[in-house]
Amino acid sequence: MSQLAKISVEKQPRKLSGTVVILAGDGARIGPAARNAGLEPVVSRAAAVMDFKGKAMSTLDLPTGVDGIDRLIVVGIGKPGELKELDWLRLGGVAAGAVGRGKRAGVLLERPDGKKISPESAADFALGARLRSYAFDKYKTAKDDSANGGGKEPPALVLWHPEAGQVRRAVTNRDAIAEGVALARDLVNEPPNVLGPVEFVERIQELAAIGVEIEVLTEDEMKAAGMSALLGVAQGSSRPARIAVMRWNGGRSKDQPVAFVGKGVVFDTGGISIKPAAGMEDMKGDMAGAAAVTGLMRTLAGRKAKVNAVGVVGLVENMPDGNAQRPGDIVKAMTGKTIEIINTDAEGRLVLADAVAYTEDRFKPQFIIDLATLTGAIVVALGHQLAGMFSSDDKLAAGLTAAGEATGERVWRMPLAPEYDKLIDSRFADVKNSGGRNAGSITGAHFIKRFVKSVPWVHLDIAGTAMDSPQTEINRSWSSGWGVRLLDRLVADRYER
Ligand code: BES
Ligand code: MN
Ligand code: ZN
Repeated sequence: MSQLAKISVEKQPRKLSGTVVILAGDGARIGPAARNAGLEPVVSRAAAVMDFKGKAMSTLDLPTGVDGIDRLIVVGIGKPGELKELDWLRLGGVAAGAVGRGKRAGVLLERPDGKKISPESAADFALGARLRSYAFDKYKTAKDDSANGGGKEPPALVLWHPEAGQVRRAVTNRDAIAEGVALARDLVNEPPNVLGPVEFVERIQELAAIGVEIEVLTEDEMKAAGMSALLGVAQGSSRPARIAVMRWNGGRSKDQPVAFVGKGVVFDTGGISIKPAAGMEDMKGDMAGAAAVTGLMRTLAGRKAKVNAVGVVGLVENMPDGNAQRPGDIVKAMTGKTIEIINTDAEGRLVLADAVAYTEDRFKPQFIIDLATLTGAIVVALGHQLAGMFSSDDKLAAGLTAAGEATGERVWRMPLAPEYDKLIDSRFADVKNSGGRNAGSITGAHFIKRFVKSVPWVHLDIAGTAMDSPQTEINRSWSSGWGVRLLDRLVADRYER
C-alpha cells in the first residue's frame, strides 16, 4: 500500500507551534482561534502585499515571527457558507500540497465566521489531504526525488477541532475510501512486466484479509464455460487469462447483489492490429476498469458497507504472436453469439462480453455497471475530464450522475440507439467487434449491450478519466483511481438501507 498522509485529530493545544495551517475567508478574514494566537497582523499585512483575498483554494505560505509559529500556511476558503462537500475535499488537498512532503503541520479547522466545521466536512478535508499525498514512487531509487513528487514521506497533519472525538470517527470512516482509491491507483500505475493477470489476482487475494470472498477462474474453467471471446484476446500472450470474482456480503442474505465488472487488459498492444509505438506505454493502464472494481471492493469491505456486492474482473494481455487472434476470426461468446473479429485492438469489448454475461447469468444482480478503458474515441469526445456513460436504465443513470456531482467524478451520458447498433452487424457472424471510426465509443457500448440479457446496465468508458489524469487538488498521480469514489457513493446513496 502506498503511503498516504498521516492524519491525527486533536483538540487545539493552548499554544500553537511549528508549521500551522489556518483557513481564511473572503477578505482574508481569519477565525477567532487564529486571532487569539496573534496571527491577525501578519496575515493582513501579507494579504495586502501578496494580493491574497481568501479566494477558495488559494494559499499564502509565510515565515512568521509570531511566538513559536515558524511557518504559517493560509488556505483561502472564500465565502464559508457557499462551500460544498466537494470543496472541503479539495481544500484538504490544497493544504496537504502546501505543507509538502517530508513535513508536518497542525491545521486549525475553524471557519473564519466562527461557526463550527462539521465532522463530516473535516473528514472530507482529511480524505482530500490523504488522496493528494499519494505518490507512486516505489521504482524511484533516489530517496529525495522531490522534484518528481517522490522519495520523501507524505506529510503528517494534525487536525485541530473542538469535537476531536467525533471528527476522529468521521475521519476513520473515510479511511476505507482513501485506501480503495490508492489501491486502484497503484494497480494502474504498476508497470506491465510486474502486473500480469496472475499477479493482478495475487493483489486481489489480499482482500481476503478484510472479508472479501474471492474466486478465480482459470483458462480451463473459462473454456468449459464457453468464454471464447475473452480467451481469444489472451491467446497471443504467454500469460494466461484469469477472471476474478470478489464478493462482499454486507447486506441481508435475501438481497440480490449489485455487480461491477471491470476490463482488465494488463497490456494492450492492439494484437495483430498493432498500435503505433508512440504512447503505447500508456496501455499498461488498460486494466483501469478492473482496478476501479478492485479498489471499490476494498472500500466497501473496508467500511463494512451494508450491501451485497460482486466485483468481476476479466484479466488478459493483448499481444501479437504466432498464436494470436486474427482479423477475420470468428469466435463464440459465452451467450452463444458469434463474433467476427474485425480489429484485434477492439479487445476490451470481447473481454467484457463474456465477463458481463457470466455476471448476469451467475449472480442475477440488481444491476451491472461495467467500467472499461474502452475507446480512444471517448478521450476525443470528453477529454480526461468526464467519463462517458451509456445506460439502458434511466434511474441508474440518474443515480450515477448525482453521485458524480457529489464526488467530482462526473459522468456524461452518451446515446444508445438502433441506428448505431446496426453498425456492428456482421456479414459473417452475429456481430462484429468494430463499427469503424465513427461513433467509436457508442458502437463499443452497443457491442457490450448485445451480451446483456435483461439486467439494468451501465457502461462507463473511462479511457480518458482513469489514466493520464488531470492534476488536481486531490490527485497528482498518473492514475486518478477514477470510479472508486463514484461507485462507493452510488452504493451508499441508493443501495444501503
Ligand atoms: N484500450 C484501448 C482504448 C484506449 C485508447 C484507452 C487510449 C486509453 C487510451 C482499446 O482497446 C482500443 O484500442 N480501442 C480502439 C477500438 C477500435 C479499434 C474500434 C480505439 O479506441 O481505437
Ligand atoms: Mn485495444
Ligand atoms: Zn484496450
